Amino acid sequence: MKYDLKSVGIHMNQQYECITTTINSKKEKNSAAFAFIYLGEDKVMCRIFEGSKSLKNIRETKQYVVNITQDPLIFTLSTIDKLPDEYYSDDEDIAILKDSGAYLVINVDEIEIKTPEDFPIKNDTNIYFIKGTIKDFVINDIAAQAFNRGFSSLIESLVNCSRYKIVDGEKKKYYKDRLEENKKIIEKVSDEKTKKAMEILAEEYQKY
Ligand SMILES: Cc1cc2nc3c(=O)[nH]c(=O)nc-3n(C[C@H](O)[C@H](O)[C@H](O)COP(=O)(O)O)c2cc1C
Repeated sequence: MKYDLKSVGIHMNQQYECITTTINSKKEKNSAAFAFIYLGEDKVMCRIFEGSKSLKNIRETKQYVVNITQDPLIFTLSTIDKLPDEYYSDDEDIAILKDSGAYLVINVDEIEIKTPEDFPIKNDTNIYFIKGTIKDFVINDIAAQAFNRGFSSLIESLVNCSRYKIVDGEKKKYYKDRLEENKKIIEKVSDEKTKKAMEILAEEYQKY
């Protein structure tokens, strides 16, 4: 089945920051922020590092929910593992955030382990590539849009550019380093338009 996720700002093969909610066999609910990738048709994937509670629940139930929200408190409380029960809907067999603008219920098809050799990253933890199929897609708020952090990186770089032009020495180096970091993020998670914008901006930095 084909889903039109563009209505919630999700385009194929791009990465969005969403809140993944899961439940375990004891009916305990959990939420955490993970990057979500839409692979087209009804296929999706995410990557989760070993040690995560969400990963444990997903391996147990073979299901998870991707909540589309830009609520800063939900992101923070989920990340520090302190999201109170009242944030969840009353459903007993599935964990869904009751105020999320939209959500996708995902059935897991395949969980593949990648060792640090397969997928080099800064630490030496295994990571799991979790591929799944969309079982349900619900929009509660037509204004709901998934968050892409490339845009934040671009805006930060634009703000920094005006500062970069008027500082010297250590401060100039600080803003140049931030630019390089933001360029890497945009290369990884952004659409072509944001990449083009960053290219133009990087040229502007070269002038000073
Ligand atoms: C915006 C954001 C995106 C994140 N993306 C990922 C990700 O894609 N994979 C991952 O393993 N951890 C990711 N993390 C870190 C996890 O959210 C964090 O390890 C969390 O504590 C895991 O919670 P859990 O143990 O309840 O599953 C992300 C964190 C944030 C704030």
